[in-house]
Amino acid sequence: MDTDNFRKEYIELIASVREYMEEQLRLGFMEAELSEPEQQSPYADFDLPALATDAGNCTKCPLHETRNSVVFGVGNTNADLMFIGEAPGADEDRQGEPFVGRAGQLLTQIIESGMKRKRADVYIANVLKCRPPGNRDPEADEVATCSPYLMRQIELIQPKVIVALGSFAARMLLDTKIGITKLRGEFHECNVAGLQVLPHKKPPVIMPTYHPAYLLRNPSAKRDVWEDIKKVLAFLAQG
Ligand code: URA
Repeated sequence: MDTDNFRKEYIELIASVREYMEEQLRLGFMEAELSEPEQQSPYADFDLPALATDAGNCTKCPLHETRNSVVFGVGNTNADLMFIGEAPGADEDRQGEPFVGRAGQLLTQIIESGMKRKRADVYIANVLKCRPPGNRDPEADEVATCSPYLMRQIELIQPKVIVALGSFAARMLLDTKIGITKLRGEFHECNVAGLQVLPHKKPPVIMPTYHPAYLLRNPSAKRDVWEDIKKVLAFLAQG
């Protein structure tokens, strides 16, 4: 059986066990309480390292010829909150970790000083795992080739909220051509075809906001980002 079929059957099995237990509870045959499960995807710890290895060996697009590292993602694999940027820059390509340059330091500040969370408690990734030379914009075919890695990361981590940093991430996750200024500030449904979620989980909601690199050039936009982040905090606080 291939991995996808195995995964599908596993999800169906969990759903039917849960259904059976709920029925037993309803009929009074069981006393245990089934709390709303908060656990992570059951395969995150197993599948994410395998996916990282796959991505680490990826030669599906020409960006592999110029990269120093594959920048897969970093953070808590059980995070309720994910940040998704565009693509690694020079610092990230050198260090193999997303958002470690100047824009990254600003993102860390937003997470730690603003949201009062540790950077290590959220999960951070990019649409592209390899640096486009000279920090040029990602090409459509690079996004199409690379995005399955990100989709699988989202499926495995199963966050409640994804903050899409900048227009590339927002457009990809929402499958739209609308610009970030119009999209930001409101929650949107994740619009990625075929994204699988566990039966008891809701698909993540997306909050698009300005990219930290944009904030470095336009500090007055920090106010808008803070408004967006406050909505994310309120959403997460609802449980
Ligand atoms: N910009 C991004 O979009 N991602 C990074 O990892 C760094 C800068």
